[in-house]
Amino acid sequence: MAASLGPLVGAIDQGTSSTRFLVFNAETAELLSHHQVELKQEFPREGWVEQDPMEILNSVYECVEKTCEKMNELNINIANIRAIGVTNQRETTVVWDKTTGEPLYNAIVWLDLRTQSTVERLLKRIPGKNKTFSKFKTGLPLSTYFSAVKLRWLLDNVEEIKKAVEDGRALFGTIDSWLIWSLTGGKNGGIHCTDVTNASRTMLFNIHSLEWDPDLCKFFDIPMEILPTVRSSSEIYGVMKICPSRDSGALTGVPISGCLGDQHAALVGQMCFKDGQAKNTYGTGCFLLCNTGQKSVFSEHGLITTIAYKMGRDNPAFYALEGSVAIAGAVVRWLRDNLGIAKTSEEVEKLAEDVGTSYGCYFVPAFSGLYAPYWEPSARGIICGLTQFTNKNHIAFAALEAVCFQTREILDAMNKDCGIPLSQLQVDGGMTNNRILMQLQSDILCIPVVKPSMTETTALGAAMAAGAAKGIEVWSLDPGDLTAVTCERFEPQINPEESEYRYARWKKAVMKSMGWES
Ligand code: G3P
Repeated sequence: MAASLGPLVGAIDQGTSSTRFLVFNAETAELLSHHQVELKQEFPREGWVEQDPMEILNSVYECVEKTCEKMNELNINIANIRAIGVTNQRETTVVWDKTTGEPLYNAIVWLDLRTQSTVERLLKRIPGKNKTFSKFKTGLPLSTYFSAVKLRWLLDNVEEIKKAVEDGRALFGTIDSWLIWSLTGGKNGGIHCTDVTNASRTMLFNIHSLEWDPDLCKFFDIPMEILPTVRSSSEIYGVMKICPSRDSGALTGVPISGCLGDQHAALVGQMCFKDGQAKNTYGTGCFLLCNTGQKSVFSEHGLITTIAYKMGRDNPAFYALEGSVAIAGAVVRWLRDNLGIAKTSEEVEKLAEDVGTSYGCYFVPAFSGLYAPYWEPSARGIICGLTQFTNKNHIAFAALEAVCFQTREILDAMNKDCGIPLSQLQVDGGMTNNRILMQLQSDILCIPVVKPSMTETTALGAAMAAGAAKGIEVWSLDPGDLTAVTCERFEPQINPEESEYRYARWKKAVMKSMGWES
């Protein structure tokens, strides 16, 4: 087997719930080997969500080492790995000390709500308290979700960070920056960079000029010298350096040459290169992105405008409209960990499957407020429509149904903004392995749902970007070059009237969740 394999490309997929390293055959896109490590999330106070950047980095090393061990067992030559791509949970904010290589505070995770008062304070400075004041520059509304307000909070509240900024020791980055800097040498010459997709999630980045925006940095009072250099999504950023504290250096010298936020990578991995092509990824949250080509389209219905990818320094940026839902897989994890209704996520799904109905119960998991299309930080989770008959199975079903209703809301917004309704939905991500959920999704959307047999599209997208970089060029981004992707289709099985009735009830429940915290 080893002798017949051509170039290979690796992908580090650093998500909110887990980290993975995956190795693909660059000629066929076949997944050859991978390893996954689940990650802890810390909730030090109500609404706060943190992760340890060192744990994240070590989980990457562990995944790389274990994948290499598996490749050795399969007799696949590790030396054939020609490039590595990085894809990551977006917006999550890290500040570290470049002289020690140590983080100066935990990573503030994208879901974190501590900046609600920071957002309120900033809003007071904007005429008309207009949340969308920077929409045409950044594509984003002012929200707790994006990195700028998290960084502002760190600068205001963490003495060590203030001091490190004064001393010129502090570096800021989203998870991609933290990983690339650490993996390319860290305090011994690590490369401090990010790509345009990740930069476009900070609210400090002009998505047209593709540069940090001095006026926004001034507005948020962010020192520009701590920001990473912004690069394209596909170019050589640096090479993997050996990590002195780990024994494995199997990938030392391999270029890191692809970088995309995870949702953007999934768009690439699903081969959505044409205007109007869209995908929905079900992870911790759920994110529907529609490629709008080289034109940035601005939503009138609560979606955000983001950079889809920029494949090489000299190539143009492509844009996407995005519908972001904060809680998808996380609601299943919550039922498992916080309510203890089951021991595993699979068991939660089985509970839902066993009843096949919520029996009129609706669950709005607005744990972090509501993102698209509402952008309402004051919303909080509710379960309503309970009777004495309701049991944990119905609640589990309502949780799955909530994921589908939230997708329907962003699909409706997308259809209104794009003018041409999507005739089917391409899906990926961990939750798509749940066939009941996918059927339910098709029923609630009233259109077919199409799932590729290889669901690791996020990692594939990062690997494709890495393999296509100038100087690597083992991968063309022409989808025709890849082995035909086989898909499973789910067709709607209930009548549209029933679907509309349930959706109307859901909307009523959403209205009840609003304004809870104000
Ligand atoms: O914007 C947050 C998103 O990138 C998180 O992705 O896969 O961890 O749900 P995921």
